[in-house]
Amino acid sequence: MSEIESLSARALADIAAANDPEALEALRVGLLGKQGSITGQLKRLGALPAEERKAAGEAINRVRDAVGQALAERRSLLEAAALDARLAGEAIDTTLPGRQAHRGGIHPVSRTLERIAEIFGRLGYELADGPEIEDDWHNFEALNFPPHHPARAMHDTFYLPPDAAGVARLLRTHTSGVQVRYMADLVAAGRTPPLRMIAAGKVYRSDSDQTHSPMFHQVEGLLVDEHATFADLKGTLAEFVRAFFGRDFQMRFRPSYFPFVEPGAEVDIAWQQPDGGTRWLEVLGCGMVHPNVLRNCGIDPERYTGFAFGLGVERFAMLRYGVNDLRAFFENDVRFLRQFA
Ligand code: PHE
Repeated sequence: MSEIESLSARALADIAAANDPEALEALRVGLLGKQGSITGQLKRLGALPAEERKAAGEAINRVRDAVGQALAERRSLLEAAALDARLAGEAIDTTLPGRQAHRGGIHPVSRTLERIAEIFGRLGYELADGPEIEDDWHNFEALNFPPHHPARAMHDTFYLPPDAAGVARLLRTHTSGVQVRYMADLVAAGRTPPLRMIAAGKVYRSDSDQTHSPMFHQVEGLLVDEHATFADLKGTLAEFVRAFFGRDFQMRFRPSYFPFVEPGAEVDIAWQQPDGGTRWLEVLGCGMVHPNVLRNCGIDPERYTGFAFGLGVERFAMLRYGVNDLRAFFENDVRFLRQFA
């Protein structure tokens, strides 16, 4: 075997045995690089006698091409194997449990608010609202609470420090101020009753125990028309209670005092107790709109009458969901809230 043939045989065997790209590259340099053995053979051609040179040159070139091809084939083989190994290592384990997505839910108070607004919406009441930071006129005076009237003491009001103009605002103690805003806006827009409005939102009183929270939600309702009567008020509330709870309740209208209605009443419903008995539960305040309130809003009380009611949203949520501590609605413990989601 000539020198070039044995060099070729060894080179091809080494290439076939190379197991990684680095070993293969070292072989390439050793064979075909500047100092490589095959390159060396080519350099030495010049020293051969002229008659041998052609055949030897052809033989070396054949070996060089064969070795070059073997190197390229082995390289792509090793690269494919490396890729397969990497893919195998990176395989996704589809049996692993997925990341938990936490689903949000609507707060039971919001749910109750929506339900109430929806029922009155069906009865033709327009949704209205007013500011939580209210002034004395809308929260008290226009509602027939004269200054220093003892009825103001029924509301443990949070007052804000007077602003630059000396006006002391307060956190509204009820949503009844929206009645005033709604009627005054209506008159200012050149419209006249009939009107039906419902307003929902937060109210504030300095009060806190199992059934009182310093912030709670009320829904206010107001209807003004030429012949609105107390019978209309009773019918409307009975219809609402039936729609809200999905069944009839015995209801009781107990005379009560609110400066902005006359006559005024508190409504109790007969609630079934676990022991089989019933208990009267107060659920809202209501009455016929006081003539002074209509007058304060620019509506003629000789021509129009109206009724109004205000209910505590949490009270309705507690009854509907069987919750016995109001504070649970505001602690935002997800274990509690999740039950309603
Ligand atoms: N605003 C009264 C309260 O908060 C409830 C009420 C509203 C009473 C409308 C009569 C008419 O207690």
